[in-house]
Amino acid sequence: MTETPLLQVRGLSKRYGAGCSLCEHPVSGDDAPVRCPACGSIWACRSLDFHVYPGEILGVVGESGSGKSTMVKCLYFDEAITGGEMRITAYKNGTSELFTESSQQKRYIRNHLMGMVYQNPLLGLRMNFSSSGNIAEKLFAAGHFHVGTIRERASSLLDRVEIPVSRMDEPPKQFSGGMQQRVQISKALANHPPLLLLDEVTTGLDLSVQAKVIDLIRDIQRELQVAMIVVSHDLGVIRMLADRTMVMRNGCIVEQGLTDQILEDPQHPYTQLLVHSLL
Ligand SMILES: Nc1ncnc2c1ncn2[C@@H]1O[C@H](COP(=O)(O)OP(=O)(O)OP(=O)(O)O)[C@@H](O)[C@H]1O
Ligand SMILES: [Mg+2]
Ligand SMILES: [Zn+2]
Repeated sequence: MTETPLLQVRGLSKRYGAGCSLCEHPVSGDDAPVRCPACGSIWACRSLDFHVYPGEILGVVGESGSGKSTMVKCLYFDEAITGGEMRITAYKNGTSELFTESSQQKRYIRNHLMGMVYQNPLLGLRMNFSSSGNIAEKLFAAGHFHVGTIRERASSLLDRVEIPVSRMDEPPKQFSGGMQQRVQISKALANHPPLLLLDEVTTGLDLSVQAKVIDLIRDIQRELQVAMIVVSHDLGVIRMLADRTMVMRNGCIVEQGLTDQILEDPQHPYTQLLVHSLL
């Protein structure tokens, strides 16, 4: 299969903190400590190379602090990167490096080509706006201004994630955690992006609610053929969702490949530990 990837990322690195002569460059090797002993800066992501094919789900798994959220925040331009390149075929046929685009173009890419579901719903939703208003905001940002059309689209999106239309004017703060994640998903889908970023969507939810959200994600992927990066520290969630998986540790990718292969024959000791704890 020689399909062209939708998203190509090369050498993505992110250091929190100013750095010093000791930590100026990311050291290689996933055993290297993320925190600089001299200045306290943190290399949260170190030279990440990966790609996502159109319509596939790429799982990202790794322990707490391995850099998963930082990675997706960099892709969504929430965090400024320290180094690296990103291309998406949906933008200028993949010829343009996105991190060096103007802030105006980055806004365009964020609003039209990506949808984000944050680990922390407080980052993804205005808790005091109505739920329909939260979706409207994303539609506005993409240049839709017709009130009737916006309401209709918001109600069909909320209906798609099984939020009763009768509750579309309620603010997310009145919703349960699972409902808030579903509002985030509908907002992320608002402009038909080819790529969704989902950061720990099921974490902290009851098992039964978790299962429903997983079903919803699978249905959406099948229906809309949208590509997704699904981040979870839970290999069980990744097993149910991801076609391919990458395993992160200390800001590095230690292993990536077909999810089935990684589960059956993990190569890296850290992955072996993860897989065995799942059994
Ligand atoms: N705004 C920030 N400023 C400084 N350091 C940060 C910041 N955000 C994250 N970090 C650090 O970067 C590293 C990676 O954090 P990140 O949140 O990306 O991990 P994660 O894999 O998403 O973890 P979790 O599974 O707990 O969500 C951690 O050492 C964290 O302390
Ligand atoms: Mg995280
Ligand atoms: Zn340092």
